Amino acid sequence: MREVIRRSMRRPLGYALALLTIAAAGCHPMDDALATLFGRSMRDQPYVAPYEDPRPPAEGSVPFAAGNYPAQMGEVNVGQARGTEDMPPHFTQMDVAQQAAVVTEIANPVSPTAESLGRGEELFNRSCAPCHGEDGAGAGPVTGAGYPPFPVTGPRAEAFTDGFIYGIIRVGRGLMPAYGHQLTHFDRWHVVNYLRQLQGVLPEGEAAQASDDGQGLGR
Ligand code: HEC
Repeated sequence: MREVIRRSMRRPLGYALALLTIAAAGCHPMDDALATLFGRSMRDQPYVAPYEDPRPPAEGSVPFAAGNYPAQMGEVNVGQARGTEDMPPHFTQMDVAQQAAVVTEIANPVSPTAESLGRGEELFNRSCAPCHGEDGAGAGPVTGAGYPPFPVTGPRAEAFTDGFIYGIIRVGRGLMPAYGHQLTHFDRWHVVNYLRQLQGVLPEGEAAQASDDGQGLGR
């Protein structure tokens, strides 16, 4: 019986040995064989290896996630460095919590034109109203599920600077999540402008007077 088993094992063992020998000759036996025939292999050429960085980032590059800034209104953000000199500096939720000057002193570069307010309204109703309510008084739909109501109109929020509201939108604060990834730089300012209108602190007629600078809406 043992003899029979031994004999029946002989052939598969032989195949396995042959395969092992071929494998040991190189990791790409087929390729190696063809390279021997034709004298060259497609494998020998410049290429990017898996996980290899194709090239270092160009000098002055700004990571896309660093701020989400298009160079100017109406331009698609391609993560470019050009034009970022006028953009607000990096800040964190801690700076917002402490009302640091790096946040509160950011100047609003977007005038509250009718176009800006229209865009702001659309975005506010999409991103902010679920919690703060369409009128900003705090009774958004989520409060029905036990989420604390938090008004963004009234004397307290009216006293905030535009930059501070921009900062809250960008990095969030306390229970409020960050909306920096949903709203681009200029869209945040459109929301700030619209919130000012909701609060009733936009000087009367300013929207009508502010001339559109012709750059269209920044997204
Ligand atoms: C998921 C619910 C939620 C959404 C959506 C949301 N917020 Fe808030 N917001 C909060 C909460 C909660 C607070 C209180 C934050 C805290 O704990 O300090 C807050 C605070 C604020 C404040 C400060 C108010 C104050 O009196 O201190 C402003 C301004 C504000 N939010 C604006 C916005 C804007 C603009 C948007 C839309 C881009 C937005 N929020 C979207 C929940 C939300």
